[in-house]
Amino acid sequence: MNRSDRLFSRAQELMPGGVNSPVRAFRAVGGTPVYPRSGSGQFIVDEDGREFLDYCMSWGPLILGHAHPLVVEQVKSAVDRGLSFGMPCEAEIDLSERVLSVLPGESRVRFVNSGTEAVMTAIRLARGVTGRDVVAKFTGCYHGHADHLLVKAGSGLATFGTASSAGVPESMVQDMLVLPLDNSEAVEAALRATGERLAAVVIEAIPANNGLLVQRPEFLKMLRRVTRELGALIVSDEVLTGYRVGAPHISLRNGLEPDILTLGKVVGGGMPVGAIAGSKSVMDHLAPDGPVYQAGTLSGNPIGMTAGAATLRVLEESGAAERLEELGGLLEEGFGAIVGRLGIPACMQRAGSIFWMALDAHEPPRSAETIVAESMDKYRTLHGSMLSQGIYLAPSGYEVGFLSTAHTEGDIQRTLEALETGLKKAYA
Ligand SMILES: Cc1ncc(COP(=O)(O)O)c(C=O)c1O
Repeated sequence: MNRSDRLFSRAQELMPGGVNSPVRAFRAVGGTPVYPRSGSGQFIVDEDGREFLDYCMSWGPLILGHAHPLVVEQVKSAVDRGLSFGMPCEAEIDLSERVLSVLPGESRVRFVNSGTEAVMTAIRLARGVTGRDVVAKFTGCYHGHADHLLVKAGSGLATFGTASSAGVPESMVQDMLVLPLDNSEAVEAALRATGERLAAVVIEAIPANNGLLVQRPEFLKMLRRVTRELGALIVSDEVLTGYRVGAPHISLRNGLEPDILTLGKVVGGGMPVGAIAGSKSVMDHLAPDGPVYQAGTLSGNPIGMTAGAATLRVLEESGAAERLEELGGLLEEGFGAIVGRLGIPACMQRAGSIFWMALDAHEPPRSAETIVAESMDKYRTLHGSMLSQGIYLAPSGYEVGFLSTAHTEGDIQRTLEALETGLKKAYA
């Protein structure tokens, strides 16, 4: 038994499943979770001293890699001055300016402590602004674990949903309409049938929690057109995609033109931060200016705000978007070549620094329903092979991978060689 095994067996006596977030338990891929002791750049070293090239990057936030020197230096200096005051701080002004600098018109932002909180607040805000109750979400999109967002489709194609988690009363989801991605006809009909009861449509700017389900621009434009006609808002959830798919945010470029944008992950630079942003006229509905209540003891604390501001500053100043696009392009191209050589059905879907390998697929799926469930067995084999070659991929085939500016061409080359070995095993 190595140290990670021992830690995990102790953890299982202390925490449900031994973890504080379910996917970390490695149930989808088997084996023992990796326990990092430290991280630097693109690498982590675990409690057993094994080094892994990391493509999880804390599930996305670490766009500059682990322990980026400038971020660490600024956070340390903030820590020295006090962890939290429950009062306004200068760092939140810096971060607000950076967040708003890429948004159109006169905008405002509110910081919270997680992506879940951001989307939960965005939906309350959309309901408050419109005075309506019904919110549409899509099968295959994840927006955090607020009660009303843990909803799955009922028996029809576009129906009011049923709770997808125990502990969520049906009354919490009765105003949630659950729609299929990539089906313009069904979605438009359902939205129009809801008519003036529709407060908002919430969608991931690029759905990236069940594979990477890049949507057709016509579909997104239809959502914008129909919601405008109905007087409903679009909440674009960019918790995962924000700052990772070029600049400005992808939903400002792909036809969604959201009324409310939610951010998380990168915006906190590795600390627990989420954000809701939108036009002044929408955001002014939040307390204390408006009647939509929202608050938080640790919201806008100086440590999170400093980590986020330092991260965005480096991103802005370093031409990171081009660099990440280059690295992503290399990975995607190399993957295509491997697939060609091995003659296997698989493809890589990529958006900026986010990538996903669709196994058992001839073309990238656009809806969760079209992901081949059996391909997850192949992913399990691939994941095990990559770990044994010192490369850490997310412990579920439904999860995307994340590049950082710390990754190099050499890392991509090494990853491609390992992938070729792993894919041979997976498809054997
Ligand atoms: C698109 C999206 N929205 C919301 C969330 C929830 O964020 P958090 O885990 O910070 O609560 C996530 C988390 O992965 C996400 O990917």
